[in-house]
Amino acid sequence: MTTWLVTGGAGFIGSHLCEALLARGDAVRVLDDLSTGKRENLPPGAMLIEGDVADPATVRAALDGVAGCFHLAAIASVERGVTDWLGTHRANLTGAITVFDAARPTRIPVVYASSAAVYGDAATVPIVEAAERHPLSAYGADKLGCELHARVASHVHAIPTVGLRFFNVYGPRQDPRSPYSGVISIFCERIRRGAPIDIFGDGGQTRDFVYVADVVTALVAAMRLAPADAPVFNVCTGTATSVLDLAHTIAELTGTLLDARHRPPRAGEIRDSTGAPALSRRILGLADPLSLRSGLGKVLDWMGGAV
Ligand SMILES: NC(=O)c1ccc[n+]([C@@H]2O[C@H](COP(=O)([O-])OP(=O)(O)OC[C@H]3O[C@@H](n4cnc5c(N)ncnc54)[C@H](O)[C@@H]3O)[C@@H](O)[C@H]2O)c1
Repeated sequence: MTTWLVTGGAGFIGSHLCEALLARGDAVRVLDDLSTGKRENLPPGAMLIEGDVADPATVRAALDGVAGCFHLAAIASVERGVTDWLGTHRANLTGAITVFDAARPTRIPVVYASSAAVYGDAATVPIVEAAERHPLSAYGADKLGCELHARVASHVHAIPTVGLRFFNVYGPRQDPRSPYSGVISIFCERIRRGAPIDIFGDGGQTRDFVYVADVVTALVAAMRLAPADAPVFNVCTGTATSVLDLAHTIAELTGTLLDARHRPPRAGEIRDSTGAPALSRRILGLADPLSLRSGLGKVLDWMGGAV
């Protein structure tokens, strides 16, 4: 039986990946420190090693005998990078290097989560993979660091790697109570209850919202590819949705009246972030992504519909 290591497997995206790997009959080992992930996110059958992805001995033991590693563990928060620069750096970049280093003896392929945050405020949208990378946060800088070290892993140590730059991922199990959670889980949870939501600035800032099952498909396809030249791909839909349109769509789907409070714009917030999906669709063989309305329906169903 094929066994995979999923770091960060008790988190939002990782737990969906574990579910998909187990559903096709593979075995799954998870390395997670449960800092934001939860034990109850893990599907039955996933084996949890509770530990730190930046600890070399722990990672070496976790990688023993696996066919490949999906490296998703990170402190997935731009805000935390501001308040705890060094701490997030250790999890987000040292963690990735620890995985690559532990993969050296057996050259285990590593598919890892990068982020659209590597682009910063891109001059042209939709953003293609070859666009310049000017991260504006410690989080984005560390994700770019992961990509650079993946190249070292590949070119110097012959470890196959693929980096996936996720845009705004959403779906069931994204915790609306977490201050670092995505806008969709927070809006869905509040709007369905008729509670007010905060919109920063004019609400015209746009994002590319990609449903978690499409991200899982990309992760699995990337592991099949795992070539020698350390490629990176956008994981996105190519569709720009403004924050205000998102709020109105959720209000419409839940049949509630939108109560939006406009707040001053957030310093440094990126205005437009929409990815170009052509390269990943072609090379990874991805199908059309789920529509935002269908994905929102799934999130609302998971939350229990309107109240
Ligand atoms: N959700 C998004 O929109 C998005 C966008 C771009 C990139 N990403 C990346 O995707 C990956 C998964 O994100 P997510 O949204 O599922 O976040 P998440 O917080 O739900 O999952 C991250 C997991 O990593 C674990 N973790 C954190 N630090 C660790 C450490 N030092 N050792 C071991 N485990 C540790 C957490 O407990 C958690 O289970 C992350 O690398 C994140 O940066 C997410």
